Amino acid sequence: MGRFILSCLLAHHFLQTVYAAPIEDHSKRIQQDQRRFWHISDLHLDPTYHVTEDHAKVCFSSKGVPASDPGLFGDIMCDSPYQLIQSAFHYMKQVDLQPEFIMWTGDSPPHVPPDELSTDIVISVISNMTHTIRQFFPHLPVYPALGNHDYWPQDQLPTSTNAIYQAAAKLWEPWLNAEALGTLREGGFYSQVIQPKLRLVSLNTNLYYSPNKATVNMTDPAGQFEWLQNSLERSRQNMEKVYIIAHVPVGYLPYAKDTTAIREMYNQRLVEIFRNYSDVIQGQFYGHTHRDSIMVLLDQQGNPISSLFVTPAVTPIKSLFEPYTNNPGVRMYLYDSLDYSLQDIWQFYMNLTEANEEKVSNWRLEYSMTKAFEIKDIQPQSLHELASRFETPQSKEFQKYFSHFMVSYNNTIACEGKCKATQLCALKFLDRDSYSKCIKSVKEDRTSE
Ligand SMILES: *[C@@H]1O[C@H](CO)[C@@H](O)[C@H](O)[C@H]1NC(C)=O
Ligand SMILES: *[C@@H]1O[C@H](CO)[C@@H](O)[C@H](O)[C@H]1NC(C)=O
Ligand SMILES: *[C@@H]1O[C@H](CO)[C@@H](O)[C@H](O)[C@H]1NC(C)=O
Ligand SMILES: *[C@@H]1O[C@H](CO)[C@@H](O)[C@H](O)[C@H]1NC(C)=O
Ligand SMILES: *[C@@H]1O[C@H](CO)[C@@H](O)[C@H](O)[C@H]1NC(C)=O
Ligand SMILES: [Zn+2]
Repeated sequence: MGRFILSCLLAHHFLQTVYAAPIEDHSKRIQQDQRRFWHISDLHLDPTYHVTEDHAKVCFSSKGVPASDPGLFGDIMCDSPYQLIQSAFHYMKQVDLQPEFIMWTGDSPPHVPPDELSTDIVISVISNMTHTIRQFFPHLPVYPALGNHDYWPQDQLPTSTNAIYQAAAKLWEPWLNAEALGTLREGGFYSQVIQPKLRLVSLNTNLYYSPNKATVNMTDPAGQFEWLQNSLERSRQNMEKVYIIAHVPVGYLPYAKDTTAIREMYNQRLVEIFRNYSDVIQGQFYGHTHRDSIMVLLDQQGNPISSLFVTPAVTPIKSLFEPYTNNPGVRMYLYDSLDYSLQDIWQFYMNLTEANEEKVSNWRLEYSMTKAFEIKDIQPQSLHELASRFETPQSKEFQKYFSHFMVSYNNTIACEGKCKATQLCALKFLDRDSYSKCIKSVKEDRTSE
């Protein structure tokens, strides 16, 4: 497609948003060497979803809790109806932004008690999502990572081959090469060269996830750390750049003080590896939290060296006690095709309340990262500067970041004090020492007030 048509399409989408800018201004930004890919995550299909009088019976994933305001595209107490997932893919196809590939960071089955599922059901849901993606995007390569829900019982992903890793390898044969399928079958991870001098590394971080009993006390579950180090070493020697994808993110959770998503000892090890190979790694892409957040990895001297992104979920589900959730989201990254450096994020979303009210899909651009925050790209230095701006008291930019965190679910919820401190410490400090220092300094500030 010519640059002109592309510019018009993009201008159209930008004009639909509050961040709308003049068309000329935007088309300038479409540069010759810029390419794009999609990132989708946490689809969580609930095949039982159906709108009915008795709100307690709308979906199994609400676990008996009444749905809140169920409609065609879903409900905040439920996982995704098939219709919601279709509407997302239909939109992605129809905006036709000429992507090179899709990253898909896992979690296909619904949040239901273990006895509602089985190995066969989990495989059939992963199979359904795989075939659905292929129906919509028959010519696009897709690079998946397994999620903690892509196993039965959930979270218990093993360190050696099993029916689910084997089924995934079979289902993903059209997208992956023989070497990748081999390690996927054995340990649920793989790497593959996906563009000239660009390697994608798909990690099975579920092996490090705290609730996984299969890996308790292991120093290197499935030998993945050793494999990762060897892969990165080989990439460095071959002058390749690397994109890391995985379901459960490294670092601290932005909404829970002092909590890493993976076990702390594994987190330390991963941070060390990512620091060591930051010259090779051009970006890291995660899911799992269902929220939109960024992290920037610093070296021991405090210099920003790696950009990490957590993409929000397609499912809008929340548990009963959570005060807020996320609207359904999918996103596109822009990157430089010469050095694979990351240039921008275009985050798209569905206003679920509005879509249900009007009974029509309303996917549209939520924000462009560079435009929303006036940064030149999304590389480590830019994210680091942005984080400093967030730190100023009453920062309007941080409030915007927090609205994005919820995928514009509720723009009036404020995040201040402890909420903001937890967000900001998690954004910049991924290892135990620097994170503890950050959290502690916030406490001291407050007691001296
Ligand atoms: C996936 O599941 C949905 C909902 O149960 C069903 O309507 C659809 O036909 C299935 N699609 C595929 C490709 O299996
Ligand atoms: C793990 O190590 C701890 C401390 O050494 C020990 O108490 C525990 O039994 C071990 N657990 C397993 C499953 O090996
Ligand atoms: C760091 O990189 C060096 C040189 O490439 C390598 O020998 C070493 O094992 C790496 N260490 C870690 C923890 O990744
Ligand atoms: C989503 O739609 C609802 C209902 O139309 C509206 O009240 C709300 O402001 C919309 N949210 C955003 C972020 O546009
Ligand atoms: C949005 O948040 C405000 C402030 O917490 C709350 O009063 C309001 O009910 C929320 N709206 C929705 C739709 O959840
Ligand atoms: Zn999930």
